Amino acid sequence: MSDTQSVRFFSGESIPLEMHKVRVVQKLYLPPVEERLEAIRRAGFNTFLLNTREVYLDMLTDSGTNAMSDAQMGAMMQADDAYAGSQSFERMQQAIEEVFGKRFVLPVHQGRAAENIICRTYLKPGSIIPMNYHFTTTLAHIQANGGRIAELLTDGALNIKSSNPFKGNMDIAKLRALIEAEGVANVPLIRMEASTNLIGGQPFSLANLREVSKLAREYRIPLVLDASLIGENAYFIKQREPEFRNSSVADILLQMCAEADIVYFSSRKVSSSRGGAICTNRTDVFDAMKSLVPLYEGFLTYGGMSVREIEAMAVGLRETTDESVIGQSPSFIAYLVSRLEAHGIPVVTPAGGLGCHVDAMGFLPQVPQKEYPAGALAAAFYLISGVRGMERGTVSSIRDENGNDVLSDVELLRLAFPRRVFTLSQTKYIEDRMHWLHTRRDLVGGLRFVEEPPVLRFFMGRMEATSDWPERLMKAFREDFGDSL
Ligand code: F0G
Repeated sequence: MSDTQSVRFFSGESIPLEMHKVRVVQKLYLPPVEERLEAIRRAGFNTFLLNTREVYLDMLTDSGTNAMSDAQMGAMMQADDAYAGSQSFERMQQAIEEVFGKRFVLPVHQGRAAENIICRTYLKPGSIIPMNYHFTTTLAHIQANGGRIAELLTDGALNIKSSNPFKGNMDIAKLRALIEAEGVANVPLIRMEASTNLIGGQPFSLANLREVSKLAREYRIPLVLDASLIGENAYFIKQREPEFRNSSVADILLQMCAEADIVYFSSRKVSSSRGGAICTNRTDVFDAMKSLVPLYEGFLTYGGMSVREIEAMAVGLRETTDESVIGQSPSFIAYLVSRLEAHGIPVVTPAGGLGCHVDAMGFLPQVPQKEYPAGALAAAFYLISGVRGMERGTVSSIRDENGNDVLSDVELLRLAFPRRVFTLSQTKYIEDRMHWLHTRRDLVGGLRFVEEPPVLRFFMGRMEATSDWPERLMKAFREDFGDSL
């Protein structure tokens, strides 16, 4: 089967080629820059609070926004409505066993619901969870259950510019030292996140996962794999880890999951518009968690999902093993990353999964971290392009016990590429507007909070500009682009 990488252009240029055709479309609108200024101000300079009517390209996330396949849509029409014992659930279970190699499945309505159940079951106050790196909702659930985290990336993994193919790897020596220092009894789980989201969608290697798993078995600590972006991680293993060059993505997925006691995922990212699951082959693990599903999610055969979503998930999971499907987003990301790099724009390298990650501290050195450079860049980029990205920096972080911002390790603007949604000309538009913004980057200033929720503040928090920089930026845009949108 040919995939996105296999077509060579006569020109020698590396262009990602779509291995699908578009058969259902949604009309888009590009509001003029004056409307965009009004919109971002109304949204408190938080792109989460924009309405999609105000957005041209919605690159906030890939969560629940990947394009569905014809096979998924077809399967949704053949769902078996039943509160208990639905055949749709059986089909989802079969797909999970086939793709992840896990027999027991607890369905949940989305990824963080899986985290809720896992944390309630395994954590007690004072527990510490070692992980390659946290995700926002994971950290929130661990803290809500009195736990702490230890992030054990290898040295240099947070460097923006890098040739390390596996920045998501865990440092095994640090893991052993942590378990010895804290005591096995205080380490109820070890967590590995596939395509490590907050550091730029960066994968771990299968060799590293095997080492983590070996240590986990030595100390008899269950290993949990956050598989929300596992397809991309498997794709990168095939691309970048020589041992697996000739393996299929399907085989790599099975080998990855075989190392973990618990595999959980947000199906919003993996394969459908909603849902998720906790999967295991261990009856003790399954029994420990199963009573929480009816309590928080729904009966054990739907877990808060509709049967149509369950059918879409089953088909979508199998499609994840198709390289031309799972490779689409990474190849577009790699294209945009290489184009932005060519313009001297600081971006996370190597290109990862999920999105193109622009380094806001490198882009806006004049904006101090306490004025949220990634938030400012997200707002500025929306203003000059109508493209909505997501802040992944200190706004997405928390405050310490003294009320001070815990400054994020990295300040990133994430431009997500939901699978098979955007075209190459749209990608070139993003490149062009980002290039222009980079030439006028001195105009961009900082942000400050005016409304700040205590938990997961980045979702609903509102900010304002620290000066009239948004107006000045808009004026510069008009001067350079005339009447153009
Ligand atoms: N784990 C990872 C690695 C994730 O990326 C996400 C969600 C979750 C867990 C939680 O899943 O949203 O279904 O509850 N990531 C989305 C994003 C929100 O935009 O990166 P959820």
